Amino acid sequence: MSKIAVIGTGYVGLTTSIGLASLGHEVIGYDLDPAKVEMLQAGKLPIHEPGLGEILIAGIKSGNLQSTSDLSEAVADADFVFTCVPTPQDDDGSADLSYVISASVAMKDLLKPGAIVVTKSTVPVGSAQVVENAIGRSDIEVASNPEFLREGAAVHDFKHPDRIVVGARSTEISQKVMDLYSQIDCPKLLTSQETAELIKYASNSFLAIKLSYVNDVAVLSEAVGADPFEVLQGMGLDTRIGNRFLEPGPGWGGSCFPKDTKALESIAKSFGVDLPLITAAIASNEISHKRVADRLAKALGGSLNGKTIAVLGLTFKANTDDTRESPAIAVIEHLIKGGGEVVAYDPMVSSYDLAGLTVAPSPVAAANGADALVVLTEWSEFSEIDCAEMLAAMTGSVVIDTRNVLNKSLWQSAGATFPSSETKRVV
Ligand code: UGA
Repeated sequence: MSKIAVIGTGYVGLTTSIGLASLGHEVIGYDLDPAKVEMLQAGKLPIHEPGLGEILIAGIKSGNLQSTSDLSEAVADADFVFTCVPTPQDDDGSADLSYVISASVAMKDLLKPGAIVVTKSTVPVGSAQVVENAIGRSDIEVASNPEFLREGAAVHDFKHPDRIVVGARSTEISQKVMDLYSQIDCPKLLTSQETAELIKYASNSFLAIKLSYVNDVAVLSEAVGADPFEVLQGMGLDTRIGNRFLEPGPGWGGSCFPKDTKALESIAKSFGVDLPLITAAIASNEISHKRVADRLAKALGGSLNGKTIAVLGLTFKANTDDTRESPAIAVIEHLIKGGGEVVAYDPMVSSYDLAGLTVAPSPVAAANGADALVVLTEWSEFSEIDCAEMLAAMTGSVVIDTRNVLNKSLWQSAGATFPSSETKRVV
């Protein structure tokens, strides 16, 4: 078993440190925020991630997991140092490497000879070289081990990944990193640093393109009077297409897809390569947010002005408390821009700072006096909501369910009107 330090205890760092400790490694997580470290030492998670709290406590009890805000304590003894710091989007769309660089500079004199620094953060092609330069020590190796965890399913994805990718200058180094995951049974890929870095961006961007296409197909289906869900189900039965990641929605979002698609565009540009598909997928996604607001305006007689709109869901998807780049928020911004007042309910969000948006404590409180209801996040509990009670609280009856979570026929029999976006053939 190895001694591992994990730098950064955000979504990625927490799951990595707690997951590696659950495999029996001696892990010490570092964060510069002492309040966060204190919470973790007390066995409390600063984020909502199903199943992670249990293995955090098990890690602390077994003695395999510690947390510190002292960098030298974290890295001095470590054979491997995982860097899990943010790589936010820069003004030009590229990934900002400043946290990765400052972490590398801060640890360079603290690392023990022979340590391997492993980048988990999503970093552009060529970043391994940047880290090597920032550390500037010939006795330290640098590897790339991109993470493919989904928020809300991170524990499952850590234990049962589709694949693990490690890139380094030599197979010997990448194998050492891969050996940390010896108990995990899945395809394992040893690659160059550049290949590992690009696999991450190319995967996320492919998924984003897939979803933009899914959303476009859903809109076309409704326009021609076809059932979008049946169309997509029929497509997904082709094993070359596959039935996963085929759910239409109000657009894709979260802390990864919007940032990574823009970063891939920027990487391609810097190498003089055009990627028109990814550019189109980003544009299609932005249109999809506005489309929901336009559809509602049409259903409400042509305008949202002065209307009260109840919204179910604020997080970027279900089973997370994360509202970063949430498509729900993007849609709400369009609703407010159109003159609407929004009252939203989300099981994990109790407040959100946006003029025109109020967060209600329950679905019925959100529905109270509303002209329409829009479902924007696929929380499964929304399928259990009492539709009669909701419709009785509302003044209007229009319902748009962008995530297909409501039982449509039940809601219809209780008096809901689901507007059809069926349109007339223009030529
Ligand atoms: C994504 C990738 O799926 C992970 O593999 C990757 O590790 C992660 O980014 C990352 O780079 O860290 P995540 O951002 O947690 O994971 O979210 P997803 O589950 O991929 O969902 C992204 C967006 O697509 C959400 O807004 C979600 O609602 C939407 N989506 C997803 C759909 O609209 N339909 C679907 O069928 C699936």
